[in-house]
Amino acid sequence: MRVKYSKLLILALVSSLCLVVFYSKLKDAMHTQRDMIKNQSITADTHRKPTTADTHRKPRTTTVKPIIKKKSKNNTPLKLPQLTISEDFIKFIPKNGAFWNRKLHSLLRQFDVAQNQTHEDPRHWFRCQPESFELLQTNIQDIQSYPLLYREFLKGMECRDPPVVIDQPTKCESGNEAEQVFLLFAIKSSLNHFERRQAVRETWGREGLYDNGVQVRTVFLLGQSLEDDPNLDKLISLEAQQFQDLLVWDFQDSFYNLTLKEHVFFKWMLDNCPQVSFVFKGDDDVFANTQAILNHLHSLEPEQASSLYAGQIIFDATPLRDQNIKYYVPQTFYEGPYPPYAGGGGFLFSGNLLPYLYHVSFYIPFFPIDDVYTGMCFKALGITPVKHSGFQTFDIREQDRENACVHKDLLLVHQRTPQQTMRLWRNMHSSMLTC
Ligand SMILES: *[C@@H]1O[C@H](CO)[C@@H](O)[C@H](O)[C@H]1NC(C)=O
Ligand SMILES: *[C@@H]1O[C@H](CO)[C@@H](O)[C@H](O)[C@H]1NC(C)=O
Repeated sequence: MRVKYSKLLILALVSSLCLVVFYSKLKDAMHTQRDMIKNQSITADTHRKPTTADTHRKPRTTTVKPIIKKKSKNNTPLKLPQLTISEDFIKFIPKNGAFWNRKLHSLLRQFDVAQNQTHEDPRHWFRCQPESFELLQTNIQDIQSYPLLYREFLKGMECRDPPVVIDQPTKCESGNEAEQVFLLFAIKSSLNHFERRQAVRETWGREGLYDNGVQVRTVFLLGQSLEDDPNLDKLISLEAQQFQDLLVWDFQDSFYNLTLKEHVFFKWMLDNCPQVSFVFKGDDDVFANTQAILNHLHSLEPEQASSLYAGQIIFDATPLRDQNIKYYVPQTFYEGPYPPYAGGGGFLFSGNLLPYLYHVSFYIPFFPIDDVYTGMCFKALGITPVKHSGFQTFDIREQDRENACVHKDLLLVHQRTPQQTMRLWRNMHSSMLTC
């Protein structure tokens, strides 16, 4: 009995010692991470004088690879390509009294003038001061009847330049010219979707060299948590450090801010991945068939490949006027049809369009529904979306949803839980599978 007790005691002592060492290491890592985030917010604001707190911060010796950019790129002048806005688009959006329609046509007039002043940075046109509620009220008579979140969207509509909080500046770098990234997965996620992101990493979003000899990379696009959410900063920092695939911007992550998320993503691509051949933009709860996507992209004619915008295309859609629906659009906000657009669950486009998409988005006011907005940008560039029946953003027949053989021929289905995604992927790649 005695011998057993002392053995147990030693065991307990050793394991608690291990735990102490582990936790102190973890704490160190977390602090380093937080310091890096603090440093980032300081460098982003170049006009701020250093405070005593800054100068007294002791440098920490660390082996952790910094994932935060040293310098904000927001102050470097933009080089944007020459742009033509399609007449088709201008005619498609009716000129009427609705707020967004009026704003669009006023920006388009600005475009005509800007054509003659090639050096102006369009970012200066947007005044990110919370437009006073009164001013909005004079423009939108019935704004009082808009849902609260809608009014929040309106107040932030001009804010287009939130700073990056966690960055991955080397995501697309490779020493070798021939190893340019062929496909980049850009996945809209939310801070608390840890499990979804991990399922994507372990399955269709796996980074690296694929069969056709092409490089694939993945980034998750994130905003900040809302006021009532528990603070996940430390967990997110650790996750970013571990996987180096999180991009976090300083804006509130919400449905109506998804257009902003797309805009800052375009900018990030121009700064960090300008050479990527194709982009897949989608949700973190879809199942994508990476090999089928790569095969499809390889099969494109050069002309198709250079102006690709493909997915499940929604034709002839119009605004929904029911306040209880997520996609509600008030009549006094937008009136007119939607252009054909690819469902936001997942779609593909050519990387060489990025500078044009980013440029044209300065002439199109933010819209509260991100995939409709994307459709508008492509239409303004004169690019027609291409329907691909392998994209099933409204999902497939109930009885086929666990069938790996059916998924082999598809490019994307929405939606799957992390567990379903893991299972489908395993089954699809099983040597036992006979279809
Ligand atoms: C742009 O410049 C051209 C030639 O200098 C001029 O004819 C045209 O009226 C200008 N357009 C605008 C909108 O200022
Ligand atoms: C979008 O983000 C901005 C910046 O954080 C915030 O002020 C605004 O309320 C957000 N909009 C919505 C609709 O959540």
